Amino acid sequence: MVRIAPSLLAADFSRLAEEMEDVRLAGADWLHYDVMDGCFVPNISMGIPVLESIRKATGMFLDAHLMITEPVRYAQAFCRAGADLVNIHVEADRPEEIERALRLIKDEGKRCGITLKPATSWEAARPYLDLVDLILVMTVEPGFGGQHFMAEQMDKLRALRHALDESGRSILLEVDGGVDPETAPVCIENGADVLVAGSAVFHAPDRREAIRRLRGN
Ligand code: DX5
Ligand code: ZN
Repeated sequence: MVRIAPSLLAADFSRLAEEMEDVRLAGADWLHYDVMDGCFVPNISMGIPVLESIRKATGMFLDAHLMITEPVRYAQAFCRAGADLVNIHVEADRPEEIERALRLIKDEGKRCGITLKPATSWEAARPYLDLVDLILVMTVEPGFGGQHFMAEQMDKLRALRHALDESGRSILLEVDGGVDPETAPVCIENGADVLVAGSAVFHAPDRREAIRRLRGN
């Protein structure tokens, strides 16, 4: 069954512990933690101290999405702050440095992922297939929640699904951006294992119902 990862970017930041517990009870599988540096993306969100605090407040699996330049500088710090999985963008540095960051995350005993912006082709993931546990396909331009789902990204998701199935690798495929009960089915059809949803969960009048509908139940 597909995993649902509510994005804390859409939560009430003044009540993060309660918000996390509320979506856990509503059936969420993971929590998605968006980190923005005002450089790789034109916005600034949360960083290391907030992650340390929420780590103390929840036992849920924390999926950190680093939208930062040169993630090798901070990969270890996010692991030590309590992330269970650290996603870095393939566009955020030279390939040698991306590989170095992925190895640092693995050396910390955590899972690692690479993320592809909408304009990046699926082949950009190829050099890292022996290293990563997850590939994240962006279905909006990273930087803001509440944007419109880019359905054309489904070709990329399908290509990755084929490549992974062919090679027999057990790498999870995650989709992030504009995922709601209307757009979730096409993500699942094209091979998504994990759906990130910010607005569609946190702004829903009934979060349990929203998570149930995202799964397609
Ligand atoms: C966008 C972030 C997303 C965002 C998703 O840059 O990476 O995780 O929070 O928000 P929604 O689900 O509202 O598009
Ligand atoms: Zn994200």
